[in-house]
Amino acid sequence: ETVDWDPEDAEKGSYDHYMLKEINEQPMALRQTLHGRIDGSDVVLEDFPPGSFEDVSNVQFVACGTSYHAGMYGERLLSDWGINADTFIASEYAAYPAPVDEDTLVIGVTQSGETADTLEALQRARDRGARTLALTNVIGSTAARTCDDALFIRAGPEIGVAATKTFSSQVATLVLLGERLVRDVTGEPTEGHEQRLRALESLPENVESVIETTEAKAVSRRCLGDNGHFFIGRGSAFSVALEGALKFKEITYEHAEGFAAGELKHGPLALVTSETPVFAIGTGQHLSRLESNVREIQTRGGPVIVVGPRTASQLAQTADEFLPVPATHPDLVAALANVQLQLIAYHAANEMGRSIDKPRNLAKSVTVE
Ligand code: AGP
Repeated sequence: ETVDWDPEDAEKGSYDHYMLKEINEQPMALRQTLHGRIDGSDVVLEDFPPGSFEDVSNVQFVACGTSYHAGMYGERLLSDWGINADTFIASEYAAYPAPVDEDTLVIGVTQSGETADTLEALQRARDRGARTLALTNVIGSTAARTCDDALFIRAGPEIGVAATKTFSSQVATLVLLGERLVRDVTGEPTEGHEQRLRALESLPENVESVIETTEAKAVSRRCLGDNGHFFIGRGSAFSVALEGALKFKEITYEHAEGFAAGELKHGPLALVTSETPVFAIGTGQHLSRLESNVREIQTRGGPVIVVGPRTASQLAQTADEFLPVPATHPDLVAALANVQLQLIAYHAANEMGRSIDKPRNLAKSVTVE
């Protein structure tokens, strides 16, 4: 007699899905990402000693999907710190590459290191004389082997098609890489680097506190049967709004969209009704603006779920629902809010009985263009 036995199931342990396992692994993944890379007020990136990036004049991120959102997050931070940075959807860049020279650093953000669109974009950049760097999870991947440099996010294997822990580790790695870049280019650390690095060291435990919250499951129930699900934010929270929507649509098969909060009034507000919950991500910066966006939604009857630190605003009081994250450095709040949105997508998809680890029509690694 034979028993059906799926080796993948055996590795899920007590979890129903890899996605939930990987959400819960984030504190550990982040500890691995950060291990040995922060030394007091210094950043130590193994293959990149001080000076490694002194010739860089501008940065272009090329990536797809979740990795694209991590690239956007990195772009916001770099721009804020005075480095010229842009993010491109890899498939668009492959066809319509942006101007580069030998001082352009093109960073391919790719968990797998095998995404065809990203590899093609990196190839285009290399052919045109740019320096290329793979920011990846997989040692020995095509991106790691073919780029001039590689920096590993060290998140550990990710099995679920929905990227979770790799996004968090990409963001943490980008903060470190950004700090190194700024120091090399300007000769000075970033403003406020001490507080930011301390907050980065606390990121694993802060993510742990988010995972321990219980609100997301109940809030996800109220999303069932709605017409659409919107996610808004500014700056780094804009990239997380896009990521929250991608995760939600990917595993629930329901309509979800992310918007820059300020864009709502330029069109999408027409979609808002009592049947369209809006997740508003507050980082603690530009709060009065986000508050007025929230009022615009509530005036139209749209339910608002605020994701952010309790201390940061009045928003927590006016929201219909609130998903708390620990107060931390404003640059890292959106990364914490993202974990709440992962939980929202997971619990909603689970209630709906979706195929969470292998959503329809999707593959973990997209090796076709
Ligand atoms: C997101 O949950 C997806 N798995 C997808 O968007 C993914 O991030 C994209 O295909 C890029 O993959 P990569 O990071 O391996 O290049």
